[in-house]
Amino acid sequence: MDLRNLGGLEETRDKQFFELRKCENAFFKIERTQGDIIMRYIGSKVSVIEDLYKLISGRVPKGFFCDPFGGVGTIGSYFKSKNFKVYSGDFLTFANFFQIARITQDGPPKFSVLCDAMKIKNHGEAINILNNLEGKDGWFTKNYAYKRKFFTLQNGKKIEACLQAIKIWRERRWLSYEENAILIASLINSMDKVANTAGTYYAYLKKWYRKATRPFNFKLIPYTPGNPYCRCFLCDAIDLVKRYKFDIIYLDPPYNERSYADYYHLPETVALSETPNVQGKSGIPHVKRTKSAFNRRDKALSALSNILNIARFRLLVFHYSDDGIIRPDELRNLFHEFGTVDEYLIDSVGYTNKSESRTIKHRLYLVES
Ligand SMILES: C[S@@+](CC[C@H](N)C(=O)[O-])C[C@H]1O[C@@H](n2cnc3c(N)ncnc32)[C@H](O)[C@@H]1O
Repeated sequence: MDLRNLGGLEETRDKQFFELRKCENAFFKIERTQGDIIMRYIGSKVSVIEDLYKLISGRVPKGFFCDPFGGVGTIGSYFKSKNFKVYSGDFLTFANFFQIARITQDGPPKFSVLCDAMKIKNHGEAINILNNLEGKDGWFTKNYAYKRKFFTLQNGKKIEACLQAIKIWRERRWLSYEENAILIASLINSMDKVANTAGTYYAYLKKWYRKATRPFNFKLIPYTPGNPYCRCFLCDAIDLVKRYKFDIIYLDPPYNERSYADYYHLPETVALSETPNVQGKSGIPHVKRTKSAFNRRDKALSALSNILNIARFRLLVFHYSDDGIIRPDELRNLFHEFGTVDEYLIDSVGYTNKSESRTIKHRLYLVES
């Protein structure tokens, strides 16, 4: 077994993608695409992406890359920029919308029908319209500005107005599926920058956080230049893995019981364009959304085994924490059935709500068939 430590948080090397930002006493590696910041996401591998890239491209330098637990498209867009053909997935709609914005698109959205209907020239003018809307009241402000302090009233009203405008455009069929996805992902990303939260939508902060008092500004998530044959799928990981034979399959599932559908309930509700009854301090919808098998102690190992049994690959990379639901010895036993296994450890500054940084040990299992 090859056990190597690839080192800790490094100096920013790729200015286009990252910057180090001081937050209270801790440094975070913030993801940027062409100068714009992407929302922080639990379990994001942004801080180790360059090490990951070196490790993977050292074995398979190009080809067909599958990221079925793709989240908001961090790994997928990076590998796209390095010219891999990326097929990315997630079972959450808002995550799929981020992936469409960042990975499927190869240029700014044209908004052809919208432009004709509104007598405007291009996407820039569409964004200006959204930014100049008068604030409105509705389901969003009632639940997340008046009743719960997720947003200041002024910002909540602006977000509500954008939501209502995009909904009308969609209902009038002025937006394609992808154009709607890009606008909604951009709205979620923009609203996240003024959310009075410590990162997730599980709770809002008691006092107004500085970022929450800044004025809301709608910004389009930029596309990532790179391989033009990339696609994104809204589906369970196994349904993407079973469809194709890949050069590389990168598996980065949840490793604990924290459900993404709960922690990001508001982005998901916005993406689904629903207005459900909500409850509790977090304003989570009454009806529970599906929890991943990877969040469940009784199901995680068999869910992984099912994926491996159906997967066709040259290199499989499994990214997991040593504290995860599936134990390292269980993982080793499983992976040895499918090829030669190497293990790597990466330290990084972990995601934390506290003022002190926390080192997380990522373990990468590389399986070559
Ligand atoms: C650890 S996060 C991925 C983080 C991502 N690699 C990054 O660096 O930002 C895991 C993702 O898997 C998704 N997920 C969980 N179970 C899934 C399943 N069965 N099928 C597809 N996606 C799933 C979650 O919604 C979440 O976005």
